[in-house]
Amino acid sequence: MTTTLRDLIYLTGFMGSGKSTIAPILANALGYDVIDLDNEIVKSTGKKITNIFLEEGEERFRSIERELLQQMSLRHRCVVSLGGGTIANNANLTLVKSSGILTYLKTEDEEIFRRLRKKTDRPLLKNDEGETLTDAELRARIRHILGTREHFYQQADIIIETMNQRVGLTVDALVRSLSRRIVE
Ligand code: S3P
Repeated sequence: MTTTLRDLIYLTGFMGSGKSTIAPILANALGYDVIDLDNEIVKSTGKKITNIFLEEGEERFRSIERELLQQMSLRHRCVVSLGGGTIANNANLTLVKSSGILTYLKTEDEEIFRRLRKKTDRPLLKNDEGETLTDAELRARIRHILGTREHFYQQADIIIETMNQRVGLTVDALVRSLSRRIVE
């Protein structure tokens, strides 16, 4: 695998993998800025992610996501926390891989289920009417989406298992791994 030498770090991983938690801590450790792609979408549209999905559909959400990703790909000395589905298409994956270092926070499906069970802000984990799924449906949905995305996630430059590991240890491991790849 070729490694892009840059000072832009992208965090990917399934919903609930800890991207938004880890991004600011990692950025602080590196002395970098931090951006959360979902937050930027909310700021630029003035709408919650759930409402964009409900009112305008996933396709529109993906096009806003793509546009903001393009802006972020020009940044330097920055950690970007992506949405769980951002790199699940070849165009975005290529853009990310050619502009920075892609890091995958890998989390097992049962752990994702445990973390997301009580959350209500993930439209892809609801039914078509926007209602909460049963536990069995939620497990099946997580497994299905993860199955369609794993091969995209696996193309990351760095893969870190986040299971049962304290955030500080994950960040330490990331900083060590990144320090060999970052070029400013
Ligand atoms: C999505 C993940 C969400 C958000 C949107 C779609 C996905 O971000 O972008 O709900 O397709 O997996 P998080 O991964 O931060 O939850």
